[in-house]
Amino acid sequence: MSVVVGVSGGIAAYKAVGIVRGLVLRGHDVHVVPTAAALRFVGAPTWEATSRNPVHESVFDDVAEVRHVALGQRADLIVVAPATAHTLAKIAHGLSDDLLGTTILASTAPLVVAPAMHTEMWRNPATVANVELLTSRGVTVVGPDDGPLTGGDVGPGRLSEPDEIVAVALARVVDPVGASPAVVPGARGQEARVGDLDGLRLVVSAGGTREPLDPVRFVGNRSSGKQGAALALAAAGRGARVTVVAAALDGAVRQTLETDAAVDVVEVGTALELETAMAEHAPTADVVIMAAAVADYRPLSVADGKIRKDDSGDELTVRLVRTPDVLAGLVARRPAGQVVVGFAAETAGDRDGLLSLGRAKQRRKGADLLVLNTVGWTTGFGSDDTAVVVIDATGDVVSEVEGSKAAVAETVLDVVAARLATSRESARGREPVLAESPREANA
Ligand code: CTP
Repeated sequence: MSVVVGVSGGIAAYKAVGIVRGLVLRGHDVHVVPTAAALRFVGAPTWEATSRNPVHESVFDDVAEVRHVALGQRADLIVVAPATAHTLAKIAHGLSDDLLGTTILASTAPLVVAPAMHTEMWRNPATVANVELLTSRGVTVVGPDDGPLTGGDVGPGRLSEPDEIVAVALARVVDPVGASPAVVPGARGQEARVGDLDGLRLVVSAGGTREPLDPVRFVGNRSSGKQGAALALAAAGRGARVTVVAAALDGAVRQTLETDAAVDVVEVGTALELETAMAEHAPTADVVIMAAAVADYRPLSVADGKIRKDDSGDELTVRLVRTPDVLAGLVARRPAGQVVVGFAAETAGDRDGLLSLGRAKQRRKGADLLVLNTVGWTTGFGSDDTAVVVIDATGDVVSEVEGSKAAVAETVLDVVAARLATSRESARGREPVLAESPREANA
């Protein structure tokens, strides 16, 4: 795949070397387009050596080859990292006074930007509006992370880790010829996934809980457990040991799980049973994924015998009481370095509605990642395909993918793997090698 990496002028430009390297190691043809300011931080020889391609910055290089549009037309993906406030503004407004600007304008490829700047600049209403404009056009924004910045201040503005940017960027690429899954075999490509979860323990809840009313009836939901099972199988395929806490899984789904030696299935019925099982298995897990549809209410009392019409008459009132929020509890008690992922199935009408419901839910739950999808009478539960938007703890979109539940599971795990690396680093209390982010030197 042909990938353009645009680099704008900030101290975090040195980190973009890791992004270029990560893409090249995955077999991509990478063309680096630095701005003039970026070249003051990291020189062309470094970009040429790491990308294995010549580097141009001026629209007046190789005019005969119409380079100012050729790179963009050929690109399957464009990643801009670091994206300074100035470069974000230029992209948002379609300015094209350099090779990076013309390349982006001439391209129809997915565009991923990874901002890095001082907190005040990031929070400035002008930057906020530019970022909103970009996301409204489908541009993926990765980060920025929170942490120490150049000059000693601390706050959001650090460039995200190169591995995370690579994973999220590759997850954006849609396979134009893929038959059913609309996702390239992965955010990272199959080779990069082999064994990348080796030795890790995952606990995944799947299916839908059932809250009994009497010995023969329950209050439940239509979750089949397919997405949770797809996550478990994908993780096992990448080397993890997986415990699935399974609530009323579809029979075929359960059988598939049972054939995988790396997957243990623990069956539960109600939300309270699911909570107990998660409390038992989650503390030793590296990653916890709450894919189950957990009942929010359960009948206050369960009849010993069948509820009969003769006893109830024309109307029956059932008193329901709240169940515990299992995910929020897991987040509150999670050990350092553990990554906790939640799901949110919403009946929102469009992407904006989905995002605003998802962000509100994220604030309530506090998971590291929340996977949002739309459900309805005919979509979501039980189907083999899905479309999800993954947001992080701050509500930023970190991945967006559609395709089979298996393909979506792989991409979600790519984001999880990248997140695991960062959260382990912070659990170890490792300081970054060099605090970055520019005093915005980009022209
Ligand atoms: N969840 C949970 N415990 C509950 C309800 C939900 O752990 N009692 C988890 C789900 O497994 C999922 C996430 O919380 O990972 C979001 O579930 P969802 O049903 O979308 O949200 P609710 O918290 O139930 O909020 P609401 O129904 O009001 O949208």
